[in-house]
Amino acid sequence: MNPDNKILQILPDGREEVLKHRIKGLQVLFEGKNNVLRIYDEKVKNVKVTFHGDNSTAVVRDNTICSLRSNCFYSIDKTSYTNDVKIWLDDDNAQVKIGKNCAISWDIEFMAADCHTILDEAGNICNMPKPIEIKDHVWIGCGVKICKGVTIAENNIIGMGSVVTKSFLETNCVIAGNPAKIVKHNVNWDVKMIKDYVASYSQKK
Ligand SMILES: CC(C)(COP(=O)(O)OP(=O)(O)OC[C@H]1O[C@@H](n2cnc3c(N)ncnc32)[C@H](O)[C@@H]1OP(=O)(O)O)[C@@H](O)C(=O)NCCC(=O)NCCS
Repeated sequence: MNPDNKILQILPDGREEVLKHRIKGLQVLFEGKNNVLRIYDEKVKNVKVTFHGDNSTAVVRDNTICSLRSNCFYSIDKTSYTNDVKIWLDDDNAQVKIGKNCAISWDIEFMAADCHTILDEAGNICNMPKPIEIKDHVWIGCGVKICKGVTIAENNIIGMGSVVTKSFLETNCVIAGNPAKIVKHNVNWDVKMIKDYVASYSQKK
């Protein structure tokens, strides 16, 4: 490994330690230099990260495939969980940021860059990478695909199989379909299963 590339573990008190040994659940390939991978836990599992370029950073949780070119950035807060997510940052300067307390289901893809170039009649590039941001407490159902330039506001729910092509800045909505649209307003969600939610609610009474 080029010494300019680093794998760091973020400790519970926020300090960071250079990881010097191999971790079974973590596969990392550094093809360039000055890249940093951060993990929260040595028990991280099913993670495969490829740094194809230079100067990129990824902060990952479990069950993640992440591909980055140069000057790319991916981060997910430690309070959010991922069941099976692919993060495609396959052009320079692409970014994905996932906030706190999010539930990211399985078969999810974030594509902050399109991988190929679209040109208008004058030869101008019209599909530059644009950052994706998922704010706090968003539930992304299974099979969802999120396109470049999308921001999702707090407390939103994205229905299974949806393709999200634009930002939703209103909070507390169900967003669903292809292309995704708001199908319900003024809702919220809880990470517990309904039976557990009902049990915890009746205990509090
Ligand atoms: C998004 C979801 C949670 C919403 O549930 P809900 O609030 O009970 O929604 P409803 O069934 O009342 O549907 C509301 C409207 O949205 C539409 N809708 C719901 N989910 C949809 C989806 N995934 N794609 C397209 N439209 C959808 C419904 O057809 C309905 O349309 P209508 O108002 O025209 O009749 C649910 O539909 C869903 O996608 N569940 C899967 C969650 C998941 O992936 N879990 C895995 C573990 S994380």
